[in-house]
Amino acid sequence: MAFPESFLQELCDRNDIAEVVSSYVRLTKRSGANLFGLCPFHSEKTPSFSVSQDKQIYHCFGCGKGGGVINFIMEIENLSYPDAVRHLARRAGLAIPEEERDENHSKRERMLEINRQAARFFYDRLRSEEGQTARDYIERREISPSMVKTFGLGFAPDSWDSLCNYLMKKGCTKPELLSAGLARASKKGDGGIYDTFRNRLMFPVIDVRGSVIGFSGRILDDGEPKYMNSPETLVFNKSRNLFALNLAKKSKKGYIILSEGNIDVVALHQAGFDCAVASLGTSLTPEQARLISRYTREVVIAYDGDTAGQKAAQRGIDILEKLDVKVRVLRLEGAKDPDDYIKKFGKAAFENLLAQSENHIEYRLLELSSKHNLETDEGRVSFLKDAAELIARLSGAVEREVYAHKAGDMAKVSGEAVLSEVVRFRKRLIAEARKKRDRQVQSPVKIVQPKERSLRFENTHSAVAERGLICLLYYEPSLFNKLEVKGEDFSSPILGRLFDELKLRAGRGLGLSLSLLAESFSNEEISLLTDIVQQPQELSNAEKALSDYINIIKTEKLARQQKDSSHGDELLAVRDEMLRRKRYGG
Ligand code: UTP
Ligand code: MN
Repeated sequence: MAFPESFLQELCDRNDIAEVVSSYVRLTKRSGANLFGLCPFHSEKTPSFSVSQDKQIYHCFGCGKGGGVINFIMEIENLSYPDAVRHLARRAGLAIPEEERDENHSKRERMLEINRQAARFFYDRLRSEEGQTARDYIERREISPSMVKTFGLGFAPDSWDSLCNYLMKKGCTKPELLSAGLARASKKGDGGIYDTFRNRLMFPVIDVRGSVIGFSGRILDDGEPKYMNSPETLVFNKSRNLFALNLAKKSKKGYIILSEGNIDVVALHQAGFDCAVASLGTSLTPEQARLISRYTREVVIAYDGDTAGQKAAQRGIDILEKLDVKVRVLRLEGAKDPDDYIKKFGKAAFENLLAQSENHIEYRLLELSSKHNLETDEGRVSFLKDAAELIARLSGAVEREVYAHKAGDMAKVSGEAVLSEVVRFRKRLIAEARKKRDRQVQSPVKIVQPKERSLRFENTHSAVAERGLICLLYYEPSLFNKLEVKGEDFSSPILGRLFDELKLRAGRGLGLSLSLLAESFSNEEISLLTDIVQQPQELSNAEKALSDYINIIKTEKLARQQKDSSHGDELLAVRDEMLRRKRYGG
């Protein structure tokens, strides 16, 4: 299943890498030609992720990931190569040439279509005669008609087969209904199926692209289980999606409110907080946090006031902070959850709560203070030690000062004393960070090695030359016109494959841009190539470099062959001699 070359070329032309990356990563221009930002593929506090517009590549110096625009989409959206191509085609408004659809893709599309029809069915049932009980429930929960519409709420009738019958009449098969999680196989084992969702208020779960990927159904009374969710399917993964993010991503608020319950989200939107989302009955996962961080730099956690809720908030803070998202936590005094709070005290009160919400440092100081006994000297000392360490990690000097004084107040010592402790900690942190950086710089062999274990080089001496050759070929393909070097001469199979492919393409006059190679190589392999081509290259001396590289590669190959045939002592000696001369210029 291949896309035509000319189509791929146009696809890459119309999807500028900087623009595409910008919708996921905040890029800033520093000195030089590259744009920088925080890497979306690993957590970091200082940017090591760079985008080069003239080369149309991205590369992270921290985790080693890199490639062209297609790889980027594959990695960040977790898509296969063809799906990433389709994604970018849609983005650029390009028609995709006739393609043999790959099987998984069409299965997914089909499942989304079935879900859409199911959502439509539930929506209509809510308005029908049998939807009366659900309409009563909605009224009792004070959910407005406009929210019913915004969220596409529906009703699953109190019946074993109404959805199945409806969808089967529309051409769905039993296996399709089962795999979409809308039906379950009858326990009798007679091949019969029945509706998964019965007599429930239905919340469609819609992803950020607007597709219905699953459902969450609430019981209409106090029965159990309170909620029933779609199982994991080809299109539904609870830990990677958030309820209502499709709506919240359009909010102009500039922050996102993270709550626990579907009903809370609806109540918040109804009160004007159109930036509310909920994790789907799980505590916040790293994937969900990453998803959120694409849309905002600030999250307000509004979890239930009970201990479980507060524990979950703490875990959420840790995960979000790693992604450099600012976190505030709401304390809902006198109410069990946001829905309850707004019903009891009104939306102005909630607005107030937001305005004066503790930011995460205050929250953590409070947490710390409750862990130590501040009535004893010992307790105060250990509290201040922990607090100083926490405050030392803040990047702003003013912030550090403010919180040092706060911590001082809490333990009844002077703010100055706390601040000097903070300064001491901070010096240690900086020294540690510096040491770590030096260690990295001092091990060049490590830098040459790919992060991916299976791609590691056995012969680093040859690999350095092989990388150099690939880099030259990439920038100066004309040098290779009459050259008799082949990837099979390389010590590293992957470098050899990359070299052959580039040479083949260059020979045919095809583009060498990394995106065009995404189909033939894995993301790890493309990352390796990116690492190679973004290394600074001195092209003025290209011909000399070329012959040096070839020399090394050939000598190493000879040594390998001789070693294999196990009587190569003489030749090994020759090789060593050549190496010595190279190194010492003899
Ligand atoms: P809650 O019990 O707080 O539900 O669970 P809620 O949405 O706030 O509903 P009300 O206000 O009590 O009626 C929070 C979330 O946990 C998931 C649901 O996504 C729910 O919205 N959950 C809860 C389940 O998945 N299964 C359950 O049995 C209960
Ligand atoms: Mn709740």
